[in-house]
Amino acid sequence: MQLRLDKYLADLSVDTRSKVKLLIRKGRVRVNNEIAKKPETKIDTETDTVTVDGRKLVYHPFEYYMLNKPAGVLSAARDKKQPTVLDLIESDRKDLFPVGRLDKDTVGLLLICNDGQLSHHLLSPSHHVDKTYEVRLDGMLTEDDIAALEAGVDIGDDEITLPASVEAVYEDLSHVNITIHEGRFHQVKRMFLTRGKTVTFLKRLSMGSLVLDPALSEGEYRPLTEAEIQQLSAFGGTK
Ligand code: URA
Repeated sequence: MQLRLDKYLADLSVDTRSKVKLLIRKGRVRVNNEIAKKPETKIDTETDTVTVDGRKLVYHPFEYYMLNKPAGVLSAARDKKQPTVLDLIESDRKDLFPVGRLDKDTVGLLLICNDGQLSHHLLSPSHHVDKTYEVRLDGMLTEDDIAALEAGVDIGDDEITLPASVEAVYEDLSHVNITIHEGRFHQVKRMFLTRGKTVTFLKRLSMGSLVLDPALSEGEYRPLTEAEIQQLSAFGGTK
């Protein structure tokens, strides 16, 4: 694949697109051992050797983005009628997809990537990857509600939900964080409904080791850092 040098460096999370231009200008980037002078230099990802401060970069064919999903957007690859999360991501890659689904009205952390193996491992029911959500409700939870949600509730599936944890970290018990270890359809909303409470706001804060970056406003995204990719890879990605 042919890529501009500044995009190549930004894709590998060396730094932001504007900051890598500075690196290039300072002569810290070499392509095939020659100091690169222009951000628009074309790189062949298969054959060119790129170094930054003498450190050789290895191009990987995967892209990973953290999106703060806004409400009103589908967590699907493409849809003819409605906007999807992929419409928000500017990338030349055609093989990106959202890892799992958030409801149309749910906001917050969504991983978008093209690493099928990582996605499979994060979503596999047997891996029980933790997912934490901030939840607002139309009424106050009682201590009994919290105990029931934590023990597991019958949401109408074959099995009751796995033990969860509810954290009362906000002003009152109509607003809590819940951590679940499964990803059943509308799971959080259905869990609270068993206690007679309707979810009025739902935001995913984390998934496994990946935590929503508070600097991202709804609709914004950024590439994962190398450290975030490495940590997620511990779940079985291919990188
Ligand atoms: N649980 C839900 O009910 N909806 C979501 O979008 C995610 C988890």
